[in-house]
Amino acid sequence: ARLEVELERLVGALPECRKVLVEKEFKGFKNLFSRFLAEQGPSVTWEKIQKLPEGAVIDYSTLEMPTTDNIHHMLDKLVVVKLNGGLGTSMGCKGPKSVIQVRNELTFLDLTVQQIEHLNKTYKCNVPLVLMNSFNTDEDTQKVIHKYKGLKLDIHTFNQSCHPRINRESLLPIAKNPDVHEDIEAWYPPGHGDFYESFNNSGLLQKFIKEGRTYCFISNIDNLGATVDLNILNLLLNPEQKAQTEFVMEVTDKTRADVKGGTLIQYEDKLRLLEIAQVPKEHVDDFKSVSQFKFFNTNNLWAKLDAIRRVVDQGSLNMEIIVNNKSLADGVNVIQLETAVGAAMKCFEGGIGVNVPRSRFLPVKKTSDLLLVMSNLYSLSHGSLVMSPQRMFPSTPLVKLGDNHFAKVKEFLNRFATVPDLIELDHLTVSGDVTFGRRVSLKGTVIIIANHGDRIDIPSGAVLENKIVSGNLRI
Ligand code: UTP
Repeated sequence: ARLEVELERLVGALPECRKVLVEKEFKGFKNLFSRFLAEQGPSVTWEKIQKLPEGAVIDYSTLEMPTTDNIHHMLDKLVVVKLNGGLGTSMGCKGPKSVIQVRNELTFLDLTVQQIEHLNKTYKCNVPLVLMNSFNTDEDTQKVIHKYKGLKLDIHTFNQSCHPRINRESLLPIAKNPDVHEDIEAWYPPGHGDFYESFNNSGLLQKFIKEGRTYCFISNIDNLGATVDLNILNLLLNPEQKAQTEFVMEVTDKTRADVKGGTLIQYEDKLRLLEIAQVPKEHVDDFKSVSQFKFFNTNNLWAKLDAIRRVVDQGSLNMEIIVNNKSLADGVNVIQLETAVGAAMKCFEGGIGVNVPRSRFLPVKKTSDLLLVMSNLYSLSHGSLVMSPQRMFPSTPLVKLGDNHFAKVKEFLNRFATVPDLIELDHLTVSGDVTFGRRVSLKGTVIIIANHGDRIDIPSGAVLENKIVSGNLRI
C-alpha cells in the first residue's frame, strides 16, 4: 500500500501531458512488482520439463526458399525491430551501445540501416526499421538518425518504459521526483521483455497492423548476424501452414562456450525460454549440459503483430521476472525487476524454434568480439558481415582479452596498431600490458601473458603460430 502511495505521489507531480503514458508505464511496473511479491520460489519445477516434441525445432536447412517474385509481397508484411535500450557501459563507452563504431567507422546503427536500405532497394519494398529506445539512449539515438534522413528508409522510434528503482530494505521507490533526468540513478529500463507493452503503448503496433503488416522480426542491435531472413519469413507467411505460427525463436547449437545462454524447453505442453536464473541450484549442471539442452536462444525472434496485440490486451503476458540487485554509487542497495523478450514465447500460440546457423548469432558484448568483427575474418557487404572464404572452418576463434587492459573500447583500440590477421587463429589469450604492432599474424593457439609490472610489445610484421609469449618482451 505504501508503494501505491509513493507511486501516486510521483505520478501526481508530473505535468499533465506526461501523465497518461507514465500511468500506463506505472501500471506495468505495479503489475511486475505485485507478481514479484506474490511469486516466491523457482518458476519451473524441474521434473515437469518435457522432452522437446518432434518438429518443435525445425532445422534451418530444411526451410524452403521463396520464389523471387513473391519476396516483394512477403516483405510488405514485415516490420524490423531492433532492441536499442541498452548502453555501451560494459565496453567502457558512454551513450547507446548502438553508436559504437564496429567496422570501417560504421556503428551498429549504420550497419543496420545499410542492411534494411539494401533489402528495400533490392526488392523494391519499404520495410520499416523500428528502434526500441530507452530514456538512456533516446536523445543520442535521435541525434544520430538525423543523418539517415536522405535515405529511402522509414525509421520509427519509441521509448520503452521507465521504471522506478526500489530500495531493497524499504521496498519503496528511491525517486524523489518524477523527472528522470533530474535523478537518473533512480530509474531503469525494465529489460527487453518490456517491448510488447511499450510497442503497443506507442501506437506503432496498431499503425503497422492497419497497414496490413503481419509479423515483426526482433533482435538485439548488437547482433550483427541478425539480418532479415527470407526463408524464415517464407515459413511464417506460407498459406499452407497447418496452424498459425505466432512466434519463432531462432536457436543455435550450444557449445561449451555458451552454456549460460537461455535454452528452449517444452513445459506445460508449450515451448518456452528457460534462463539460468530460473534453474534450481541442484540442476544448474544439467542446464549447462550441451547434450541435455542442445540449443540456445539467439534472441532473434519473430512475432505475429495481431497476436502481440491480443496478449497485451488480455494481460496474459506473464514473463518470468529477473531480479537484478544493484548497489548505487551512494551505497544504496536497490532492486530492479526486468523481463526478457524471448520469455513471452509461452504466451503465444503455435510457437516453434528454428535451428539456425551460428552465423546468425554474432553478438558484440566484449572487446574480444569487437576484435573478431573488425578483423579479416569478415568482409562487409551492404551492412552485413560475411565470413571470409579463406577461413578453412566456419567457427570463429575463441578470444580472451584481459579485463584490466583491454575491456574498454578506447584502451583496446590503442593496443593494436592495426587489427591482426586472424584467418588461421583458433585460440587467443592475452593478459596484462600487451601491445600489437602493424600487420601481426596470429595462427593456431596463441597465448600472450605479461605479468604484473611487465609489458610485451608484439613487433610489427610478427607471425605468431602456436606460441606462448610471456615475461617482459620489448623489441
Ligand atoms: P544486453 O546487452 O543487456 O544483452 O541487451 P545480454 O547481456 O546479451 O542479455 P540478453 O540475454 O540479450 O538479455 C540485449 C539487447 O537488448 C537491448 C540492448 O540494447 C541490446 O540490443 N535492451 C536491453 C533493451 O532494448 N532494453 C533493455 O532494457 C535492455
